[in-house]
Amino acid sequence: MIGIAVIGYGYWGPNLARCFAETEGCRVVAIVDPAAEALARAARHHPMTRLTANWREALADRRVDAVAIATPAATHYEIASAALRAGRHVLIEKPMADNLANARELVDLADRADLRLMIGHTLVYSSAARKIEALISSHDLGNIHYYDSTRVNLGVSRRDVSVLWDLAVHDLAIIRYLLPGEPIAISANGMRFAADAPESLAHVTLYLNDGSVAHLNVNWLAPVKTRRVTIGGSQKLLLWDDLEPSEKVKIYHRGHLVADEPIDPDQAMIDYRIGDMWSPHLSPVEPLMSEAAHFIDCVGRHLVPVTDGKFGLRIVELIEAATLSMQQRGRPVELKAHSPMQAALVSGGRNG
Ligand SMILES: NC(=O)c1ccc[n+]([C@@H]2O[C@H](COP(=O)([O-])OP(=O)(O)OC[C@H]3O[C@@H](n4cnc5c(N)ncnc54)[C@H](O)[C@@H]3O)[C@@H](O)[C@H]2O)c1
Repeated sequence: MIGIAVIGYGYWGPNLARCFAETEGCRVVAIVDPAAEALARAARHHPMTRLTANWREALADRRVDAVAIATPAATHYEIASAALRAGRHVLIEKPMADNLANARELVDLADRADLRLMIGHTLVYSSAARKIEALISSHDLGNIHYYDSTRVNLGVSRRDVSVLWDLAVHDLAIIRYLLPGEPIAISANGMRFAADAPESLAHVTLYLNDGSVAHLNVNWLAPVKTRRVTIGGSQKLLLWDDLEPSEKVKIYHRGHLVADEPIDPDQAMIDYRIGDMWSPHLSPVEPLMSEAAHFIDCVGRHLVPVTDGKFGLRIVELIEAATLSMQQRGRPVELKAHSPMQAALVSGGRNG
């Protein structure tokens, strides 16, 4: 039985505690939050669990084999590095850290200690993402031309991180998981609604080495919540509307027909192809339940998580590069396959 401490019991922590409590092979042995109100809520839902305001007390508890961190991004590094140094496996809710140097160090710490480090890129564990990954890898959609996402809502503007770290992070993880292309450049524009606040709105363009492109529209000041991704393939088009109660994913047998040469000069070389639409059956399992089960499985069987530290590090690299571009009004920041930020810095991106 794997003992888990859930650190941070604000909005997301209770969901983690609930999912771990329902996951076979683990037990929530501690919940940590400095806020008395949060611990009072935790006491109602987890009456048998140790409650404490200080995560160091949880790390000193020998029943704790692993920690799940759901605190503000700026605190992730301090808590996760201490947990790894104390020999505990770590799940960090996205984003893994609020800067690249700290993210790198967490990966090194976990590698050196041979501990599991997983990042909670929850949507990667959704049935929809799993289904779409199968469709793309079996070439069912054909060659991927584009990924286009609108992820907006009227949300609480975070004071600690911009909308890139909070919302674009989801799309970047999905793109990393789903698309065959490697990111080669990123460009972003953003806007802050108060001078001392981080950006609440951003438009990001990501260029991939197979010629495909991704557009992300993320915004905390939208009147209506939208979670909609379109993926354009040479054979089929796919729509993923995560707010649909059923039929979240729809595949349209539609696209362009490109003729080798026009039959007559007035005829276009590209014509439309209109075919059927179908919606695959998706497992109703909650993505966070799958994420929790995957973490316990990886700890128990010494497996590499799908969204391990290196995966999370890559996402932090992309967000840092997008932030850099945003500071320069959308100037594209070049990325290299294995060390994009280094490439950006070498080419003078930060000061150029
Ligand atoms: N995977 C997802 O889909 C998803 C969804 C929402 C949030 N998150 C992530 O979860 C994390 C938390 O987000 P949230 O919305 O729950 O924030 P929140 O502000 O609602 O809650 C954070 C909690 O952490 C507590 N806290 C702060 N410092 C602490 C410390 N040093 N030790 C212990 N507890 C501490 C606070 O008291 C608060 O209760 C963020 O990284 C966020 O990006 C992930």
